[in-house]
Amino acid sequence: MAEMKIIGLIGAGQMGSGIAQLAAVNGVHVWLHDTDTEALTRAHNSISKNIQRLVSKGHLTRDVEADAGRRLRCTSDLDDFHSVDMVIEAIVESEDAKKKLFVQLDKITKGSAILASNTSSISITRLASATSRPSQVIGMHFMNPPPIMKLVEIIKGADTSDDTYNATRCLAERFGKTVICSNDFPGFIVNRILMPMINEAFHALHTGVATKEDIDTGMKLGTNHPMGPLELADLIGLDVCLSIMKVLHAGLGDSRYAPCPLLVQYVDAGRLGRKRGIGVYDYNTRPKEIKP
Ligand code: NAI
Repeated sequence: MAEMKIIGLIGAGQMGSGIAQLAAVNGVHVWLHDTDTEALTRAHNSISKNIQRLVSKGHLTRDVEADAGRRLRCTSDLDDFHSVDMVIEAIVESEDAKKKLFVQLDKITKGSAILASNTSSISITRLASATSRPSQVIGMHFMNPPPIMKLVEIIKGADTSDDTYNATRCLAERFGKTVICSNDFPGFIVNRILMPMINEAFHALHTGVATKEDIDTGMKLGTNHPMGPLELADLIGLDVCLSIMKVLHAGLGDSRYAPCPLLVQYVDAGRLGRKRGIGVYDYNTRPKEIKP
């Protein structure tokens, strides 16, 4: 099984930058790409700050910090990916956008490269069908935030080979993660169960069952969840939650998966959660202690 020496990360948002950080501190060279150069600059700054914080807390050494800095390179040119052993894409949760990207990657990357998607819900089999190498396409679903959360969910498409699965699993374990394996169904394991709960919390808020604070406190103290479903939705991004609900609704064909109208309305209003400073909660006025 080939070792992953250099990987490409596409999408320098909250997930892509977190995965790039994980790779760089765990000895893997990373190219980080985004079409938005400001996103690349933000990601580079936040990765440096996060690593500095880990050093100041004694979780990483200064040597690891220096090595990680050398291993991470940002680029707005996808052609730089010609030498990578694997690509992990973490762009917007849209099947069309991801398929277009996979077509490009199929042309640019070397024939042996694995193409992985961090998608939360979209069919790996359909993404693979956009390429000439479906046996080398796989889902590698990190949890948010990637440097902290212990789980990686690996999704096998219809044609994903055992070699591709083993190499992907090995990389996740090198990052210190526990792996679970899902077959290719809408939302896989985690979001098949989590997202309907979040959607139901929006229904509870929408129909006046309770305030947002009481819904979140109820689920935190009543069921021992570390975060309430509405504050978790704000962390994930309400646009991402809505995209996942649409995939569940279309793919499972049951009206109980229809996105709550309040979730749709917040996204329409640009209230996307913490990344925009406002979602269900307003983070410009909210106390800081709920941030992870
Ligand atoms: P985000 O909105 O924070 O970042 C997405 C980034 O992708 C942006 O910087 C955008 O400029 C870039 N981008 C969009 N189209 C591009 C393209 N064609 N080429 C290059 N860059 C492009 O999104 P986030 O939250 O990081 O999510 C990314 C992916 O990870 C989605 O598929 C999402 O479903 C998945 N995911 C999200 C989680 C979350 O909690 N937010 C958890 C696990 C997976």
